[in-house]
Amino acid sequence: MLSSKVSQALNKQIELEASSSQYYLAMASWAETQGLNGVSAFLYSHADEERMHMIKLVRFVNERGGHGVVPALKQPPVTFKSVKAVFEEILKHEIKVTNEINNLVDITLKEKDYTTHNFLQWYVSEQIEEEALARQTVDKLKLIGDDKGGLYFFDRDMTALAAASGEVDAEKGA
Ligand code: FEO
Repeated sequence: MLSSKVSQALNKQIELEASSSQYYLAMASWAETQGLNGVSAFLYSHADEERMHMIKLVRFVNERGGHGVVPALKQPPVTFKSVKAVFEEILKHEIKVTNEINNLVDITLKEKDYTTHNFLQWYVSEQIEEEALARQTVDKLKLIGDDKGGLYFFDRDMTALAAASGEVDAEKGA
């Protein structure tokens, strides 16, 4: 059985994962309107991944006798300055998510909830991957700068990355 402290903290994380999904979905839709089909495919798939992160938490909370609450969400931004600005936002957002996961892990230790602590290790590893990917992408975009041809190839690479991430999701059972 979850303590109310752990249950509240997990529900807060549910909200953060849901808003991440919504945020990346808004980015995906914007990228699609800019003709950046690879970037948008990657972001749509990233939004789906965040939704999977949320559902995994909801089901865990319910399994442990709590109630995973589906949250109301704020409207995310509609337009973005550039592809680079999008990925810089993603990196900033993922660092925030990592910090929140770390806080959650800390709460489970203080509450001596080792089952939830164990469950959260999946999120700890996932955050290492997500942050690294966002950081590498920002670095690539810095190299490209204002080069339109570079952006074209970047978009093409993102199509391959979106397809690969879809395959990984399928393996994870997302
Ligand atoms: Fe679910 Fe990207 O954190």
